[in-house]
Amino acid sequence: MRKKLLEYRNIAAQFNTIEGQTNTLNDIDLTIYEGMSLGIVGESGCGKSVTARLPIRLLPEPMFKVTNGDVIYHHNGEPFEVLKAKQNGKEINKIRGKEISMIFQEPMSSLSPIHTVGSQMIELIMQHTDMDKTEAKEHAIHMLERARVPRARDVYDDYTFQLSGGMRQRVMIAMGVSCSPRLLFADEPTTALDVTIQAQILGLIKDIQREQNMALVLITHDLAVVANMVEEIAVFYLGYIVEQGTTDQILKSPKHPYTKALIASIPTLHTNESLKPIKGSIPDPYSKITGCPFWMRCDKVTAKCREEVPPFVTHENEHKVRCFEA
Ligand SMILES: Nc1ncnc2c1ncn2[C@@H]1O[C@H](COP(=O)(O)OP(=O)(O)OP(=O)(O)O)[C@@H](O)[C@H]1O
Ligand SMILES: [Mg+2]
Repeated sequence: MRKKLLEYRNIAAQFNTIEGQTNTLNDIDLTIYEGMSLGIVGESGCGKSVTARLPIRLLPEPMFKVTNGDVIYHHNGEPFEVLKAKQNGKEINKIRGKEISMIFQEPMSSLSPIHTVGSQMIELIMQHTDMDKTEAKEHAIHMLERARVPRARDVYDDYTFQLSGGMRQRVMIAMGVSCSPRLLFADEPTTALDVTIQAQILGLIKDIQREQNMALVLITHDLAVVANMVEEIAVFYLGYIVEQGTTDQILKSPKHPYTKALIASIPTLHTNESLKPIKGSIPDPYSKITGCPFWMRCDKVTAKCREEVPPFVTHENEHKVRCFEA
């Protein structure tokens, strides 16, 4: 039996800005189990980063507001209601960075330019463990070595602006996993890097995940990136999960027209026929859509699709799809 680590239960969330109100997350039902690897895939603006930031409350409240549902983190076997905690209170700080950690596309957004690599790392380590300064330093260097940072002892004393993009990403990974989190969200961690470095960094994340038996949520707009990295995939579209299943189910027998279109638009996964870009474009986030979020771009649209949101239905072997026609 898999053990639940993090649950999103029917989450609906919105941003209220001067331009209007968005429906950023809609009926998100998702469970992350201990040690599992999950890919979250979807086009820009579909709610991937918001989903990752929600359990550690890294969102601009009260402009961002959850209007329905619960997020439960199973902390040492005890359910912890993430949304009931204060945004920057003690309780959420026990989870953020320690239990759930996050790495981003742009390392400079989470690394300080005015502190050395080492001073940032020991601060984090000392905050979340009972190591003293000497122990924290040795641990930091050890983590840098595990993230395959060459000359880790020297890099420890460097400032982040002195490092290359790939090296900064390694430093961020070392930092992200230095307190042995149970769950790591990697939000487009390699998008800014060139292809060879991308592959190395993804390999590194995968190795560390296995070594630490940590759950991994890898976020990307690129299905090809997750294909060899994760056991399961959730496909997001306009703040809905439209399909979820094992990587094989999603890639080999996709059921949702959007997933099919995504696969058809990827060169490396699709070699027989010519590439087909997905028709149409993503609607404006402030527009109100009735019915299925994908109907305007869908070839199989019916009158019902325009009126009702399809339920998220579980098919054989836990393959879930939100489509009347699947
Ligand atoms: N600071 C903000 N202010 C207003 N709306 C926001 C803000 N951040 C996110 N949103 C809304 O939430 C939606 C989802 O944003 P999110 O960053 O999660 O997308 P994403 O899937 O991570 O996209 P990308 O692939 O570009 O990173 C956006 O379309 C936008 O409507
Ligand atoms: Mg994002």
